[in-house]
Amino acid sequence: MESSINTCKLIKLPKIENSKGNLTPISNGVEIPFDVKRVYYLYDVPGGETRGGHAHKKLEQFIVAAAGSFDIILNNGKERKTVKLNTADYGLYIPRMVWRELANFSTGAICLVLASYEYDEEEYIRNFDEFLEMVKD
Ligand code: TYD
Repeated sequence: MESSINTCKLIKLPKIENSKGNLTPISNGVEIPFDVKRVYYLYDVPGGETRGGHAHKKLEQFIVAAAGSFDIILNNGKERKTVKLNTADYGLYIPRMVWRELANFSTGAICLVLASYEYDEEEYIRNFDEFLEMVKD
């Protein structure tokens, strides 16, 4: 049940530029390939701290660096790839069954996450060995 690392996609978002500041809209099912059921954001992440460290059995996510920057390290059990998010007009789509870690948060970074389902601890995979077992051919 391997999911290709290339199905994780950087997606360009609209940017409405103005001398008074920029605006980026994200509409359900338009810029991103799922209906958004939940939005949350990570902030005040202490320097050197990492987040994530899990995969999801069914959840799809779209992650934006709404402020600052951070790295997302993706792993599908075979390939590993690091994506840096550092501009608010790009986001990373992550399908189900991809292990992800978030690291190297800049001071003041805000990690905005759009998710395809409500929070459900049951659909998390938090053990990497269990994840590897689930994605092996
Ligand atoms: P977790 O998803 O592990 O955070 P991250 O991947 O950013 O490191 O969630 C951290 C804690 O917050 C965990 O106890 C579950 C809780 N939580 C909710 O209650 N609701 C939510 O929507 C999310 C994403 C997490």
